[in-house]
Amino acid sequence: MLFIFSCILLHLAFLTIAQTDFCSNDVGNYTTNSSFQRNLNSVLSSLDSNTQIDYGFYNLSVGQPGPDQANVIALCRGDIGVDECQNCIRNSSGKILQVCPNQKEAFGVADTCILRYSNKSIFGVMEEKPVSILVNVVNATDVNQFNQALQTLMSRLRSTAASGNSLRKFATGNETAGFDTIYGLVQCTPDLSEPQCDECIAGAIRVIATCCDDGQLVGRQGARITRPSCNLRYEVYSFFGFTPATPQLPASPSPQAPSVPPPPPPAEGKKRNNARTIIIIVVSTVSVVILMISCICLYLRIRKPKEKAETGDETITPESLQFDFSTIRAATDNFSEENKLGQGGFGSVYKGTLSNGQEVAVKRLSKDSGQGDLEFKNEVLLVAKLQHRNLVRLQGFCLQGIERLLIYEFVPNASLDHFVFNQARRAQLDWERRYKIIGGIARGLLYLHEDSRLRIIHRDLKASNILLDADMNPKISDFGMAKLFVMDETQGNTSRIVGTYGYMAPEYAMHGQFSVKSDVFSFGVLILEIVSGQKNNCFRNGETVEDLLSYAWRNWREGTGLNVIDPALSTGPRTEMMRCIQIGLLCVQENIADRPTMASIVLMLSSYSLTLPVPSQPAFSMNSSTYQSDISSSMDSNSRVTNSSEAKTEALPLSANEASITELYPR
Ligand SMILES: *[C@@H]1O[C@H](CO)[C@@H](O)[C@H](O)[C@H]1NC(C)=O
Ligand SMILES: *[C@@H]1O[C@H](CO)[C@@H](O)[C@H](O)[C@H]1NC(C)=O
Ligand SMILES: *[C@@H]1O[C@H](CO)[C@@H](O)[C@H](O)[C@H]1NC(C)=O
Ligand SMILES: *[C@@H]1O[C@H](CO)[C@@H](O)[C@H](O)[C@H]1NC(C)=O
Ligand SMILES: *[C@@H]1O[C@H](CO)[C@@H](O)[C@H](O)[C@H]1NC(C)=O
Ligand SMILES: *[C@@H]1O[C@H](CO)[C@@H](O)[C@H](O)[C@H]1NC(C)=O
Ligand SMILES: *[C@@H]1O[C@H](CO)[C@@H](O)[C@H](O)[C@H]1NC(C)=O
Repeated sequence: MLFIFSCILLHLAFLTIAQTDFCSNDVGNYTTNSSFQRNLNSVLSSLDSNTQIDYGFYNLSVGQPGPDQANVIALCRGDIGVDECQNCIRNSSGKILQVCPNQKEAFGVADTCILRYSNKSIFGVMEEKPVSILVNVVNATDVNQFNQALQTLMSRLRSTAASGNSLRKFATGNETAGFDTIYGLVQCTPDLSEPQCDECIAGAIRVIATCCDDGQLVGRQGARITRPSCNLRYEVYSFFGFTPATPQLPASPSPQAPSVPPPPPPAEGKKRNNARTIIIIVVSTVSVVILMISCICLYLRIRKPKEKAETGDETITPESLQFDFSTIRAATDNFSEENKLGQGGFGSVYKGTLSNGQEVAVKRLSKDSGQGDLEFKNEVLLVAKLQHRNLVRLQGFCLQGIERLLIYEFVPNASLDHFVFNQARRAQLDWERRYKIIGGIARGLLYLHEDSRLRIIHRDLKASNILLDADMNPKISDFGMAKLFVMDETQGNTSRIVGTYGYMAPEYAMHGQFSVKSDVFSFGVLILEIVSGQKNNCFRNGETVEDLLSYAWRNWREGTGLNVIDPALSTGPRTEMMRCIQIGLLCVQENIADRPTMASIVLMLSSYSLTLPVPSQPAFSMNSSTYQSDISSSMDSNSRVTNSSEAKTEALPLSANEASITELYPR
């Protein structure tokens, strides 16, 4: 990741920081008496005098759209009352003009509110920079335990906050970490859509593991991370008050009659309580104030042009997703062979071009999807709501007679296997790219497992299901198929196994038991494949036949892990590659409970200061006899194993003498 940041160390505790301001020198300066200045003064004073809004979020603008328009957003912490909020905003708007004189764009962070203005339209636009970071440098008692609890807490708060309404997106909560209790708070400006808010907070959470040099934030018992569009804070003491109920949206919005009931003002007793808490904190922190250094880091992240803002999922309806069969037939030129992109276990995939020029990928499900129309529509609706930059987006469906089509966004580059396993194209994937791909897949999978409202187990994660977009960002495809294609899956047991040989966890391959940890297993195989450039299911090491997992494990244990690394990776930090091998090995451990969750994997990938556990022997290998007799498979890596109890058993070669691997695994 490319970060440039300057870090100013202030010897201050949290409570004494009044305001930090960031002025954007690169946007431009306005001149005295210019119309922008008049508009800015006018918008700030109407912000100061606004008494109609009582839910803590203000978005105002003055002037015609164009270079002289002044747009302002102010956001108060969700738990403070309207008076304190207005006070904070008044103070900040005076301050920001002093600190950032003549700047066309600025962002100020105060104790309980943030304020930003710009000459460009900022409403509904996610802005991630700059980032203000305040660190409580007291270390947590047990760093691993703390990080795990923090991650759990933050993921939970993140989805709660993101699902808030357009008046408030805010969540607080606590989580026990050994002897400590972590108190957390996250908030977005409520003009963001749910996916935008989710993404913004996810980024702020990632800052915990990546700021600043040498992970200065990791293991610290408190921090406050503020981006223009969202912020989070956590401490080992309770720093927030009672959260008022989320304000309800008026039934029919009318601009000058806010029918929103005011949030209940904090009771007198509560106020006194708060005051006492603050005093206690101040007193008890005095002794450690010298240890508490607050650090303000200015992350100036070099960003790629922002993707088109995603629509909130409130707008998704079955009607908006349904396509006409004739439209799709025309788009794919009557499902012509030239447009066929591939054949998967659920049907063929075609490239299509809609009449407006938009390119799509169309999956034509094989005829026996076995689901009623209504059920199918409902499931499509659920899967379409899964939106993440590392997931291929489901854009619609089509139902006609027995025809069932799924319409996906078209991802221009081929799938990952076409690069990693291809001698010539492999060179295009340097280490930085591969590491980004690993991180992207991990985040997509984490979203499926924990962050989306449905808990989705992919069940068929593999290199050919990872598509690469024009910038080589990974996008997971084929997720949610279990929802769209009927399978018997009561109690996480299934008679129809949809995995792919080489990627399946043993408990799934043998007993049909799937869980998030069977996906973690497949992810581990994928990491090892990406680092080594070798396929797990047709891995060849000179004369000896050994599968990739055993090979990686043996080398890692014997301290010769460098042998595992793809020779095409001539540059790049070896330590990072070795760390990836270790993470991959942790994922493929036999004991399901020992495999890390995707949340901890994401953390491991983003924080080098986190010590990794020592992996135990991988679950199975071709040498493991228990696996041999049970698994049956057509050897094609792209075909799926169906119904393991019925298919005939084909023995896998136990030694190089029995068969040549290449004959058994046609490409
Ligand atoms: C705006 O003014 C500041 C100082 O007054 C200066 O450093 C900066 O370069 C100016 N920016 C532009 C774009 O002129
Ligand atoms: C700005 O306008 C005021 C009144 O219109 C005038 O008195 C003042 O001199 C002007 N300042 C500048 C720098 O032009
Ligand atoms: C402020 O937000 C409301 C919705 O809450 C929106 O209708 C309005 O257009 C916004 N105002 C500006 C100036 O963007
Ligand atoms: C904001 O002001 C800068 C500097 O004057 C200008 O380059 C930019 O185009 C303006 N932005 C908008 C949206 O008008
Ligand atoms: C605002 O400023 C006044 C005076 O400077 C101060 O007494 C007050 O505490 C400030 N309020 C907030 C909310 O920062
Ligand atoms: C916190 O831990 C880091 C290493 O993880 C250490 O360098 C630092 O001195 C510790 N800080 C305190 C205040 O104990
Ligand atoms: C922690 O959160 C729960 C609600 O999730 C709340 O009932 C409990 O009082 C909180 N604990 C503390 C110590 O604040």
